[in-house]
Amino acid sequence: MRNQTMLLALLFSINALAATPQELLKQYEGQAKQDNPAFSGFSAERGASFYKTERNHSNGQKVSCATCHTADPRHQGKTRANKVIEPMASIINPQRFTDAAKVEKWFGRNCKDVLERACNAQEKGDYIQYLVNVK
Ligand code: HEC
Repeated sequence: MRNQTMLLALLFSINALAATPQELLKQYEGQAKQDNPAFSGFSAERGASFYKTERNHSNGQKVSCATCHTADPRHQGKTRANKVIEPMASIINPQRFTDAAKVEKWFGRNCKDVLERACNAQEKGDYIQYLVNVK
């Protein structure tokens, strides 16, 4: 009995970190509505263009999300140190966008890296909307 209770507690604590992409989108939707009362939903199309748009970084380089994640998100990407990054598209890599803490950690790092600012909720939602819908 005692062991069962502990097992349940463990399962619930693991579950608290896990999420589905739809749950994450719901969270970002709430934030996006707060940021902008005229928010009218996420767009895979906007997400695709956000993913591919090259920006002029203050270090003189051109950089986009596709720089590391590749222009086709069904393919493996590469870090600047040439380490493999597993594909971003959910259809190939269902683990994507299922861990809220991981997602927030990498949005934080990569948005700063590429945009030199944080991404807002609309951009995050569009990005996920795009990548969960790549066929
Ligand atoms: C300098 C290389 C690099 C660039 C540029 C880059 N990323 Fe990433 N990204 C990574 C690495 C490394 C990981 C973590 C390894 C992994 O998850 O496979 C990652 C993971 C992520 C994740 C975690 C997804 C998940 O659920 O597993 C998100 C979200 C993400 N990146 C968003 C972005 C966005 C948005 C951009 C463009 C604004 C971007 N990345 C540009 C290297 C990069």
